Amino acid sequence: MDESKKTLYSAVQPTNNLTIGNYLGAIKNWVALQENYNCFFAIADMHAITVRQTPAELRQKTLSLAALYIACGVNPEKCTLYVQSHVSAHARLCWVLNTFAYVGEMERMTQFKDKSAKHADNINMGLMDYPVLMAADILLYQAEVVPVGHDQKQHLEIARDIARRFNNAYSPTFTVPEGVFMKVGAKIGDLLDPTKKMSKSAENAGGSIFLSDDKDTVIRKFKRAVTDSGSEIKYDPENKAGVSNLLSIYSLFTNKSVAEAEREFSGRGYGEFKLAVGEAVADKLAPLQKEQARLLADKEYLNGVLKVGAENASRTADRTLNKVHKKIGFYQI
Ligand code: TRP
Repeated sequence: MDESKKTLYSAVQPTNNLTIGNYLGAIKNWVALQENYNCFFAIADMHAITVRQTPAELRQKTLSLAALYIACGVNPEKCTLYVQSHVSAHARLCWVLNTFAYVGEMERMTQFKDKSAKHADNINMGLMDYPVLMAADILLYQAEVVPVGHDQKQHLEIARDIARRFNNAYSPTFTVPEGVFMKVGAKIGDLLDPTKKMSKSAENAGGSIFLSDDKDTVIRKFKRAVTDSGSEIKYDPENKAGVSNLLSIYSLFTNKSVAEAEREFSGRGYGEFKLAVGEAVADKLAPLQKEQARLLADKEYLNGVLKVGAENASRTADRTLNKVHKKIGFYQI
């Protein structure tokens, strides 16, 4: 590990299918960040089980997400890529941190309230404890930087509060992490309701483009995307949310500026425009999907990556956990 570099931590849950919003907002940025930070990228399977999962699917999605990270350019030679449940320190630190987190503040978390409403038949303790486990994830690695979506802002605040509380109660132990809230992905709207964020768990899958969608599906979804009355292809999020969202997506997938895209489509119809956006996206996804499939066929390689990842992660995590155990007075042999 290069000591001159700052440490960065992020994770994604292996649930649902990732959308192009997740790709643009998270994984694509990680590829650039891994050059300048000591990066830990996890597959948060322990967070995933706070909502009931089908075991075979969870297993498959975990490996599939690992393959996707690598297919997108996350390089296991440059960063630590691992599965959360493979590193026992997460659960163990979470337990200690639970005694520094208050029931009231957990009950006030927006995501807890939303998920409790959505899964009213299974409001389990893990769902409420989700932010504390997330704090444990981050604090174990003494991460300075944590890139996440805007929906995780409250959870990051909790992680910072818990770190400070512990440091004040004992002595400086944890680095207080900074959240970096990704702008790009957060801006991608649902194709059918562009004022809403494109989500991996939206009710209508027609509004989300999944990284696993084949070309026909991508094109079909873009053809049905809502535009606006009028006929001008102009970036104006206030009045033309649909067209603006499509322009953003096009710009991000082609690396052209929005202004360039506007010029390119000036005087052309919505139909033609939507088809062009669909094709740009589908053409970018095809090689990712191909590489992901190739990797998934080489399970031995993926297992090797995850094994080394878990070993490296454990080394760092155990060091922090040991310090914590000492400070709180756990007897050590
Ligand atoms: N809760 C995050 C999400 O759903 C995933 C996550 C788990 C995470 N642990 C983390 C993100 C630690 C950043 C740091 O997006």
